[in-house]
Amino acid sequence: MTIPQMEPWLGEEEATAVNDYMRSGGWLMEHDKSRQFESLIADYTGASHCIVTVNGTVSLTLAALACDVKAGDEVIVPNYTMIATANSAYLFGASPVFVDVEPETLCLDINKAEAAVTTKTRAIMLVTANGRYPKAGVEAFVDLADRHGLVLIEDAAQSLGSRYPDGRHMGRVGKVGSFSFSVPRVITTGQGGYLITDDGEVAERLRKLKDFGRIAGGNDTHQSVGYNFKFTDLQACVGIEQMKKLQQRVERKKQILLRYRQALGAIESVTFFEQDLVNTTPWFIDILCERRADLQGHLKKVGIGSRVMYPPINRQEAYQRAGHHPVSELVGMKGLWLPSSSQLTDQQIEMVCDSIAEFYN
Ligand SMILES: Cc1ncc(COP(=O)(O)O)c(C=O)c1O
Repeated sequence: MTIPQMEPWLGEEEATAVNDYMRSGGWLMEHDKSRQFESLIADYTGASHCIVTVNGTVSLTLAALACDVKAGDEVIVPNYTMIATANSAYLFGASPVFVDVEPETLCLDINKAEAAVTTKTRAIMLVTANGRYPKAGVEAFVDLADRHGLVLIEDAAQSLGSRYPDGRHMGRVGKVGSFSFSVPRVITTGQGGYLITDDGEVAERLRKLKDFGRIAGGNDTHQSVGYNFKFTDLQACVGIEQMKKLQQRVERKKQILLRYRQALGAIESVTFFEQDLVNTTPWFIDILCERRADLQGHLKKVGIGSRVMYPPINRQEAYQRAGHHPVSELVGMKGLWLPSSSQLTDQQIEMVCDSIAEFYN
């Protein structure tokens, strides 16, 4: 593929850091490098606490467990999201309840979320889709959660570098915010997840939950049940170097979306979602397009990668839940991710846009 839909961006700095670490006698497992990495993330997001873990799915499970969500509880999740959001609740016996999203932002629809609250509902997982915040405003979700005694968890897996209009980094408004460092992210550690919170008690519970319930490191006293969901210092070496490149990539991601919008804005068959480029960072370039499969075929012939956006989760064989969710169904039919890597050149973006224009003309 000449222009892949996405590819990670790792450089000499990461290779050198891993090499130096390997020669230093480090134990690879989670230790000082991970603490340093957590501090960098806490500083960047402004959160009081950051806790690294194995991935962005387990981090959501940990968030729910640390907030006392239990088996049998209902958790409201968007019907448009990576299926991991729902699975993270399913994993410990909670029941994900699928709610449609706003057409402009693909974040949860506040009215539909409120209508889905039952006596069993315990939490809302607000996914800040592609770094976007809901049109209703995140405060409306805080209010909804407060009125019904629910926990608000932000699934900000796609939102490093994105802030709400009041300046708070995504993930800082709910009780806890969850992120992913998997390969397609703006920066990556291969696999990896992290949680941010300003609540010291929740942070403490999270640290215990991911370390067998130990009361402290290097100690085998357990007051509560926990698991092994720890990170590794080897990954932290990569992450520390990637953090140095974050802000530059955030700026580039914004420019990339601007260029796509300028070049494709006049094509009727292509629609962009709303994105506040002052405060938020598009992770992927997402569009709705007509004749999606044919467009993908056309792009593929000239070596341009693209990827179909997430299908509606309630229709996935894994869940098969009844319900009509028009926005997520529309995305399931017309949603497409265009090449979105931070290292795309202006010339490559032009090639992609020319090829799309050629297809529709
Ligand atoms: C919104 C959302 N939540 C959770 C996850 C899961 O993250 P991970 O792949 O690190 O488990 C993803 C991954 O794509 C995601 O997009």
